[in-house]
Amino acid sequence: MRGAFLSFEGIEGTGKSTQSGLLADFLRSQGHRVVRTAEPGGTPISLKIRELLLSLDSKGMDHVTELLLYNAARVQHIKEVIAPSLARGEIVLTDRFCDSTCAYQGYGRGIDRQVIDALDAVATGCMRPDLTLLLDIDVETGLRRNKEMNKNDRLELEDIAFHQRVRTGFHEIAAAEPERIRVISCAESVESVHEAVKDIVVAFLKQRNV
Ligand code: TMP
Repeated sequence: MRGAFLSFEGIEGTGKSTQSGLLADFLRSQGHRVVRTAEPGGTPISLKIRELLLSLDSKGMDHVTELLLYNAARVQHIKEVIAPSLARGEIVLTDRFCDSTCAYQGYGRGIDRQVIDALDAVATGCMRPDLTLLLDIDVETGLRRNKEMNKNDRLELEDIAFHQRVRTGFHEIAAAEPERIRVISCAESVESVHEAVKDIVVAFLKQRNV
C-alpha cells in the first residue's frame, strides 16, 4: 500500500519545520509510521547541493544554475527517501518540494514557467504531494522571525520585493490547485496553527483510508 506524501510550503519564517515536527509527533501517537525530511536536503548528496545553494560564497550563482541545482537535489531526495518511504506505506512529511521551485525560481527570479515545468517533468515526472499545507504570513513578520533565529543564507538576504513576489507566487499556485494546497495563516500561536494543520490532515487521511 502506498503511504501518503505531504509537504509544508511557505515563505521564510512561517514555522514549517516546527509544524512538521508537531504533526509528526501527533501522527506517530496515532500509530502512523512517519518520515520527516526537507528540501533542499534529505540525502548526503542533496545536503552538499544545499550547502552550495545557500552559502553566501555562492553570490555569483546564475538563476538557471540555481534552478538546476534545486532540481538535482530533488532527484536524489525522491530516489533515496521519498519513493522508498511511500512504497513502504509510510507518511512522508517534507519541508518544501516543487511548489517552492515554482514560487522562488519562477515568481521570485522570473524564470519562465515553461522552463520550470519542463525541468520538473525531467526531475520528478511531475510528481506532486497528495496534500500541501501552505503556511502564510506577511513578509515583514516572516523575515523578522527568521532574523530572530539568526538565519541568514543567500536567499533570505534577498530584498523584500523578492520575498513579496514569492508570497504572491505561492498564493497563485494555491489558487490553481485548491484541492491539493490548503492555505493556513500562521499569524496566530504555534498551537493554533498546529490545530488547523491537524484538522486538515486528519480529514485528509480519513478520506484516503490511511
Ligand atoms: P530553508 O531550509 O530555510 O527553507 O531554506 C531553503 C531555501 O531554499 C529557502 O530560502 C527557499 C529556497 N528554495 C528555493 O528557492 N527553491 C526550491 O526549490 C527549494 C526547495 C527551496
